[in-house]
Amino acid sequence: MQDKYLGITPPMGWNSWNTFTWNINEDLIKETADAMVSSGLKDAGYEYVVIDDCWSLRQRDENGCLVADPEKFPHGMKAVADYVHGKGLKFGMYSCDGTHTCAGYPGSFEHEFQDAATFASWGVDYLKYDNCYKPHHINGEILYKRMSLALRNCGRDILFSACNWGSDDVWSWIQGSGAQLFRSTGDIQDSWESIKNLALSQMGKTPYSGPYCHNDIDMLVVGMYGGSNNEYIGSKLGGCTDVEYRTHFSLWALMNSPLMIGCDIRKMSEATKETLTNPELIAINQDIECRGPYVVPGHDPETLMALVKPMSDGSLAIGLFNLGDAKSEMSLQFWDMGIPVAAGMGLEMHNCWTHENEGVFTERYASQIEPHGCMVFRAKLVKAR
Ligand code: GLA
Repeated sequence: MQDKYLGITPPMGWNSWNTFTWNINEDLIKETADAMVSSGLKDAGYEYVVIDDCWSLRQRDENGCLVADPEKFPHGMKAVADYVHGKGLKFGMYSCDGTHTCAGYPGSFEHEFQDAATFASWGVDYLKYDNCYKPHHINGEILYKRMSLALRNCGRDILFSACNWGSDDVWSWIQGSGAQLFRSTGDIQDSWESIKNLALSQMGKTPYSGPYCHNDIDMLVVGMYGGSNNEYIGSKLGGCTDVEYRTHFSLWALMNSPLMIGCDIRKMSEATKETLTNPELIAINQDIECRGPYVVPGHDPETLMALVKPMSDGSLAIGLFNLGDAKSEMSLQFWDMGIPVAAGMGLEMHNCWTHENEGVFTERYASQIEPHGCMVFRAKLVKAR
């Protein structure tokens, strides 16, 4: 085992599902790994290339092993993993705790240890584990614990991404399972409504995330612009604006969600690249203490949401989000963040999207925010007077 601290901060990477669903193959994965490097995403911190559902044959082989579909992956999965590793990246795959995956391929139920061994032999570094076709008589908690034990004992470091959509009060038992991620939401769609609803669904849940076990609000739709091949995910929804994608990325970064890209990174727009590689936002997401943000009181989060995440260097990451449909003034009272004026302390506000310092503020910060827009700051405590 080489990587003792697997999953200390939220993983960053790409996943095939949002844009390509069933339409995946060896060339797509290789080209995506190439693009991860050539576009600068790897340098920005993105590491995992993950194949989601629909990669296998519909039947196991005579020994009960999973088999990669030879039409999609003619050289087998080990060859794909080797290619991804050759680029200095890590390789991820997908299975399910039920008898079948959500798209109807074989699931790992009663094959957990065998499948973990198969994944290890192929060189898999990350396993997303879904929750479809789960036998009703068995508690999901047991099945996630089972696969976690199988992975932890397969002889290879494999990050375990549990994906039970927030069911069975997952946050109350997932830490004990050993998983590094837990999906706490249903599936994202490439629309503003979906982004907003997923963010609002996290109210009250952010404290359950922490180092080695991160709250996964689902993969990113940044840069998809309606480009999924799947109607439900968004081919008919029209996608979002760059402002909305930036707000989405900021929410996920501040809420410590894994940053798993879902667009076609072989042809990203400049705006998409700029959003996904913003080093200041990534630094907030990757802070080593992984403290979940709190919501500052004084606003109705349904329209105006202020999030504050304490950073390990003593500074505060602050996000001001206008989830409403009208331009609004938003103000942040420093008192609510534990900063009393009487002590003479203020905040030096650095804007993480314009990359400019806005100066030192005492008592409060206020600004107009465009509809569906946001501002993100890294704020340093300073003696103001
Ligand atoms: C579920 C998951 C998605 C995706 C699909 C694949 O819906 O939540 O993220 O993996 O299955 O079928």
